[in-house]
Amino acid sequence: MEGGGPAVRRRSRSASACKSSRDRARSRGVCSPPARKRPSSGAGEEPQPAPGSPEYNNDSEEDMFGDYDSFSGNDSLLAQVDDMEQECIQSIDLTSCTKNMEEKATVEPAFGYLQLQNAKSKELIFSAAGNIIGFKTEEESHVRTTSEQDNRTLEPGDCFLDDLPSSQLLYFEEMNKTSVDSRKSSGTKESANDMNSCLDKMLNQSSCHHNAEPTKINNELSPSTTSNMSKRKSLKDHLKNTMTGNAKAQTPQVSRTKLLKEAVLSEEICVAKKTIETSSVDVGPFYGLPSKVKDLLVQFRGIENLYEWQHTCLTLESLQQRKNLIYSLPTSGGKTLVAEILILQELLCRQKDVLMVLPYVAIVQEKVWALSSFGIELGFLVEEYAGSKGRFPPIKRRMKKSLYIATIEKGHSLVNSLIETGRVGDLGLVVVDELHMLGEGSRGATLEMILAKILYASKTTQIIGMSATLNNVGDLQQFLQAEYYANNFRPVELKEYVKIQDSIYEVDNKAENGLTFSRLLNFKYSSNLQKMDPDHLIALVTEVIPNYSCLIFCSTKKNCENVAEMICKYLNKEYRNHREKEKQDLIKDLKNIGKGSLCPVLKRTIPFGIAYHHSGLTSDERKRIEEAYSAGVLCLLTCTSTLAAGVNLPARRVILRAPYVATKFLKKNQYKQMIGRAGRAGIDNAGESILIVQEKDKHLVRDLVNSPLENCYSNLFLEFTKGIQSLLLSLVGLKIARNPEEIYHFMCGTLFGVQQQFLSKEKSLSDITREALGCLIEKGLLKEKMTCEKEQKSQSNLEITQLGQATYKGSIDVAYCDALYRDLKKGLEGLVLESCLHLLYLTTPYDMTYHCRPDWMIYFRQDVDNGVVNRLYLSFVLYSLLKETNIWNVSEKFNMSRGYVQNLLNSAASFSSCVLHFSEELEEFWVYKALLTELTKRLTYCVKAELIPLMEVAGVLESRAKQLYDSGYKTLAHLANSDPETLVKMIEHLSRRQARQIVSSAKMLLREKAEALQEEVEELLKVPTDTSEGLLTTLP
Ligand SMILES: Nc1ncnc2c1ncn2[C@@H]1O[C@H](COP(=O)(O)OP(=O)(O)OP(=O)(O)O)[C@@H](O)[C@H]1O
Ligand SMILES: [Mg+2]
Repeated sequence: MEGGGPAVRRRSRSASACKSSRDRARSRGVCSPPARKRPSSGAGEEPQPAPGSPEYNNDSEEDMFGDYDSFSGNDSLLAQVDDMEQECIQSIDLTSCTKNMEEKATVEPAFGYLQLQNAKSKELIFSAAGNIIGFKTEEESHVRTTSEQDNRTLEPGDCFLDDLPSSQLLYFEEMNKTSVDSRKSSGTKESANDMNSCLDKMLNQSSCHHNAEPTKINNELSPSTTSNMSKRKSLKDHLKNTMTGNAKAQTPQVSRTKLLKEAVLSEEICVAKKTIETSSVDVGPFYGLPSKVKDLLVQFRGIENLYEWQHTCLTLESLQQRKNLIYSLPTSGGKTLVAEILILQELLCRQKDVLMVLPYVAIVQEKVWALSSFGIELGFLVEEYAGSKGRFPPIKRRMKKSLYIATIEKGHSLVNSLIETGRVGDLGLVVVDELHMLGEGSRGATLEMILAKILYASKTTQIIGMSATLNNVGDLQQFLQAEYYANNFRPVELKEYVKIQDSIYEVDNKAENGLTFSRLLNFKYSSNLQKMDPDHLIALVTEVIPNYSCLIFCSTKKNCENVAEMICKYLNKEYRNHREKEKQDLIKDLKNIGKGSLCPVLKRTIPFGIAYHHSGLTSDERKRIEEAYSAGVLCLLTCTSTLAAGVNLPARRVILRAPYVATKFLKKNQYKQMIGRAGRAGIDNAGESILIVQEKDKHLVRDLVNSPLENCYSNLFLEFTKGIQSLLLSLVGLKIARNPEEIYHFMCGTLFGVQQQFLSKEKSLSDITREALGCLIEKGLLKEKMTCEKEQKSQSNLEITQLGQATYKGSIDVAYCDALYRDLKKGLEGLVLESCLHLLYLTTPYDMTYHCRPDWMIYFRQDVDNGVVNRLYLSFVLYSLLKETNIWNVSEKFNMSRGYVQNLLNSAASFSSCVLHFSEELEEFWVYKALLTELTKRLTYCVKAELIPLMEVAGVLESRAKQLYDSGYKTLAHLANSDPETLVKMIEHLSRRQARQIVSSAKMLLREKAEALQEEVEELLKVPTDTSEGLLTTLP
């Protein structure tokens, strides 16, 4: 099974200084529910704003799947109280439960979940005359195993109709009796202010008042003692009554089977924990984990056995000794599963929190979906840190451990907040997927900062990194003080081909020039078609579609659309018959998503089962297209490289239209990631890639396929302001390092420190560090303070200035902090508050202006600052968006792609939050605090308010939220208590798998909110420990 032998290399882990930080408690994230407070560590301590936060850090440029967090957390209190009650009942019932354990435990069914679907397949052939002709039908095994239609497996823990909230039961019954009127939500529209008049007013600097009303939450709590369980229960009842108010959802009954299962599980976890503590190799039921984990893998993933390499890796001695580890296998090698088992060990056996860092928002959401059901079954929390989701610092849980699944940017903010509150030791494990991202621009620099800070600030946190495309592993090992495991195993063979003219060559390492002739492409084109399709794309795709899926990577967005259209134009009309009804449904859905508008290109291509996929689409559109492709309704996607490391989309054949990304020649890493989408385990049983090459590029391509992967180099130095300067500022801000010596010591432990001699030959590391510190001091972000201790020579200590603090806390790029300060200061002279336009201008991200091409000649004719003009133009776009909440209309009006407009909105929401936190640190900007809180909310939730609670659930975007809402699922509690089977029936085009994932994610989110409230209640009822005895009287 294995293609190559495992290799283990070792590096010793040097002791690194552990810096403790002040334990601060506060919650100021704009995305946190207003009623919540973090437990405070010290009495009388002032609440602090979130460090290096966050929600205000926009995830990468490609990350345009930004999502929404909620401000309304009240619905979860009911569930929280239920949880408390359940815990109470559970402790009473435990004895009787265990008695019946054996017989009850056998009740749960265990089904495999991946099933091969046999279908009649149709094979297309070419006519002798040239163009493609009809279908040939024959029996054959169909391997699109993602098909959900036949998957009738029920997840453990799924509710049946009895468990539905009463409101839904009623609704469900009504659905059966009568047809349901579709609800039309009416949104209030702001009175349309003319932009020009606003602009005039801004320029005239007329003064206005802001009228934002502070939100008040009245939570009346009866006092009670913390020790008396019965009294506490009455308090909970009181809370329940007060807080649930008009809640219609009925709380579900505690299932006896569930209690029994939990009892068995906790016992198994206990045994496993003991086992892992006393043993150096795996002697537990399943790698030290309860056997239930194995069952869940079968049920949720269809994974019966681990691959041999996975077993070898999991039983490595270095892992038993909790050493850091890097492992590398080809794409689709099954790397994730190993990391997931290690994560479960950490959460369940070692009882520590875990951070999992993934490269894109969409992948984070997919992982939250996938692991929420494990969390529900095994009793840990899954918390999403992506887009605008995530709390800083995270809530400290007493009972359960948390798995934080984060993008790189949010992961960094999370680590900063944990260091600042002295809680970084709570992280037992940090897992980084796609470790090669370390070499990718400012995101790579941010990833490096996360890892370097963890290494420096927490000796007990283990780091695991994985990738399919690593070369200079030695450098990474030295940086992470890690061991290395590698294997060549790939469960599905991937055949690589290169097409030059009409010849197809196989990539063959043994051949002299790396290529051996394989075959001539079988096609007959008319001269017209030859002109339109010189690369023979139609011939290549029709060898696989419609029965198998195919991806074509194109070098530009426009090219994606053109290729999709061109193929459809010459494709036989009979392709339209394949899954015709589902394709019509897809068109209908996309039209709904576009609020009546549909992209004309998609309208023409979808009937043929073809669509394009790139960042010009909104995240809702992309998601729907991905779903249709995964289900086989669409058989061909033309896409840009952003899909290469994105969601797990299956492809029998991957075609690379040209060896270019935009105008740059393809890198080996990019090539490997793109072709790696073909032949995914569990989805396809074969995979092949074809790279189309022109004669002129022949020699370059030979180099490409034969060359090793590119090295991964630190970006801390290249990304000067976003890299080293931002890092040094945060080191002083977080008190990780206080003087140049400590900073230098820290820098030696970075990847840049490891590679410095190669990356910067002229300057030494200490020169570079000194230079960066000099810049920060010059900009007024840091200041030097000489200290002279008794009989010791004077030492220069570094202190962060107020502006530095504001910059670091607001996660503002050091390059823009001056401009931001100036703009806000100028704004104070005369803020135009008649509309939000002036505020929007102030919160329009500076870096978005580079991509903006205002179609606005008047301004170009004048001698004006382009940065200002572009920013103003973008603030008009945002202003229209806030008024219309319709991305389609706004993108048409401004002649910008929908994806760009959506990205602008997400970036502005993040930056607005950054500016808010920046302003909080500077007294003179007190007024912005009130103004920007409101604006940030509006930008974050540029949808109808009623959809927000549903959109909190991972992966539920606007259109799905609207469908759910219209079907009666109005709150998180409705979703969490719903039955996936009912959801499938009620919601159009929702697969069983998606329904299960939505319910699991909603359950997880509800549980997470309930836990947070529980913490809050306990914090509130805690007897103060810092008061002299006489002051305290016993509360009734
Ligand atoms: N032991 C196993 N048995 C069957 N299927 C497995 C096993 N391990 C993993 N898989 C499946 O293989 C597929 C690919 O795995 P995974 O996504 O972990 O690959 P990867 O190594 O991370 O690839 P990439 O580098 O492309 O991200 C997944 O669908 C996963 O469920
Ligand atoms: Mg992977």
